[in-house]
Amino acid sequence: MEIINLPPPQTDFDFPLMKALALRRTKRKWLEKPLSEQEISNLLWAACGITQPETKRAKSKRTVPSACNSQEINVYVVLENGLFLYNETLHQLEKIHSDDMRQDIGTQKMMRSAPLGLVYVADFSKMKSLLFKSDQDKLITASADTGFISQNVYLYCAAAGLSTAVLGLVNRQKLHKTMKLNNNQRVMYSQVVGLLS
Ligand SMILES: Cc1cc2nc3c(=O)[nH]c(=O)nc-3n(C[C@H](O)[C@H](O)[C@H](O)COP(=O)(O)O)c2cc1C
Repeated sequence: MEIINLPPPQTDFDFPLMKALALRRTKRKWLEKPLSEQEISNLLWAACGITQPETKRAKSKRTVPSACNSQEINVYVVLENGLFLYNETLHQLEKIHSDDMRQDIGTQKMMRSAPLGLVYVADFSKMKSLLFKSDQDKLITASADTGFISQNVYLYCAAAGLSTAVLGLVNRQKLHKTMKLNNNQRVMYSQVVGLLS
């Protein structure tokens, strides 16, 4: 498996939280230029990076909450050179395949030119708590957990001067197939990111 070891995230990057909240916006224009590995590293760590490593007694913690700490949302990264899974424990990208899937990231034509896409995928097999009695319970919870990740991406983009838009207009069936997902996995939302134009 091809691995991209991301540079460490710049966790000392300084930007006022209240200003990021005030600047947060959906932006649908970007330069057709790739993001640097450092930018991708920061973005993914903000999305759902590890802030407290796993111990013998306790599961790791991330920048985002998740119901019962299920951590059921995986972030897939769509780049020109392929589809990758973000492994937050090792802070690396693991290549799934080499196809350029950017044309599938959203159904709106304008989204196809985004240099980077994120696809939020829920893994129902990680939702083991008895609180989740049905697939509908899991879907409701996974939707909330996806929202936290997406908002972290929005705030990082506001602080770092990047364009971003979360997308509900996605062909989930098609993505499920092209991403080679299994029956426990559900495509929730996608999100495009680019350098401000
Ligand atoms: C769940 C959700 C789905 C969305 N889906 C899309 C989408 O498919 N395409 C799009 O251009 N914007 C999408 N948006 C962005 C909204 O249009 C945007 O958040 C809204 O117009 C408010 O603008 P703001 O984010 O700049 O405050 C979505 C937002 C949310 C929260």
